[in-house]
Amino acid sequence: MLWTFLGFFLVGSAVAQVPFLGGCPKAETQPNFDPSKYLGKWYEAERYFAIFEFGGKCVTATYSLNDNGTVSVFNRQISSLSGVESSIEGLAFQKSPDKAKLSVSFPSLPVQFDAPYWVLDTDYTSYGVVWSCVDFSIFSTRNAWILTRERNPPVSVLEKAYKVLDKNGISRAFLVRTDQKNCHDDSANPESNQVS
Ligand SMILES: *[C@@H]1O[C@H](CO)[C@@H](O)[C@H](O)[C@H]1NC(C)=O
Repeated sequence: MLWTFLGFFLVGSAVAQVPFLGGCPKAETQPNFDPSKYLGKWYEAERYFAIFEFGGKCVTATYSLNDNGTVSVFNRQISSLSGVESSIEGLAFQKSPDKAKLSVSFPSLPVQFDAPYWVLDTDYTSYGVVWSCVDFSIFSTRNAWILTRERNPPVSVLEKAYKVLDKNGISRAFLVRTDQKNCHDDSANPESNQVS
């Protein structure tokens, strides 16, 4: 348990969580979640603030399906301090009969653990609300993400996501906006294998 707890603080932006007193609130996941529609690229619009996390900007998450039914996770960000781009690969898999309750692990990290990745709600085409809470009974560590298909979504899209958090009694007070300004356009990125 100690290792898991430390892990959340050591690994920085990949899976950093905010500690709260008390257990996890009851949260409802998306009924009939369809992972295949959720694949592809998402932009991180907002996420919980984590104490030891130095902000990354231009954060994206790309999900792709593997032959064995697991989902590959590819997260990219640009350090707000150094401007250096970094990425991390993870693996998402189902741990529960509820298809919307996924777990994500990052094999390259020094500390191994599975972080919960619950899709609370998504319309697949504009927003996704992801909740990650680990219950240590007297306290819990929590993280929430609002992912959007557009890098700069209209407010109406964010409002749909806020409603999901409110409905589940999840505080919005810890949400911070992810800086998605002055990001490389993917087609203008020389490392991209896409033909522009
Ligand atoms: C499933 O496939 C992925 C990608 O090839 C691999 O990283 C992972 O270890 C595999 N998982 C299992 C349980 O076979």
